Amino acid sequence: MDSLVNVFNRRSIRKYTDQKISKDDLHTILRAGMAGPSCANTRDWSFIVVEDKETLIKMADANGIYAAPLKGATLGILILGDLERSVEVAKDYWIIDGSIAGQNMILAANALGIGSVWLGTYPQMDRVERQRELFQLPEDKIPHSIIAFGYPAEEGVLKPDYEEDRVHFEKW
Ligand SMILES: Cc1cc2nc3c(=O)[nH]c(=O)nc-3n(C[C@H](O)[C@H](O)[C@H](O)COP(=O)(O)O)c2cc1C
Repeated sequence: MDSLVNVFNRRSIRKYTDQKISKDDLHTILRAGMAGPSCANTRDWSFIVVEDKETLIKMADANGIYAAPLKGATLGILILGDLERSVEVAKDYWIIDGSIAGQNMILAANALGIGSVWLGTYPQMDRVERQRELFQLPEDKIPHSIIAFGYPAEEGVLKPDYEEDRVHFEKW
């Protein structure tokens, strides 16, 4: 798919068919996540890939009501900020680096015809702690976000395209 079309036609998809995502496509999605820029090239993320239905439901419950789409997803990826890999001069950039990885995975999925929705975890610390507990994470792995994936069973909602009043040239 043309890469700009891919950016412009992506929508959050919250309802999915039962069709499984192939190992090849999963690999492509993860590879896209790892292809993004990261501060000082620390690559300070790790990922937990979940296909098990029961675990997806537990993840959804741990993340609260807005994570309900995960219960019908065929795949969930928990993005972790991996402080073991971060460096003092680039402290806290794991938050941005994890977001870039997430967006890259969403766009890769869209290019493959796979729907997805971002489910916010960090900085809602109650969600962070519940994911931490569920996956028995060490202290230096911080639950960042979950992305639910699956083949679309809905079209997604249209939103504004270009908004002129958001853009300021040369001065505010
Ligand atoms: C940081 C972040 C957290 C989000 N959390 C949720 C969520 O918990 N549940 C959900 O259904 N959608 C969630 N979304 C998806 C947004 O609702 C969605 O991106 C927004 O409505 C725009 O729609 P679009 O993705 O189709 O462009 C989240 C998106 C972002 C970027």
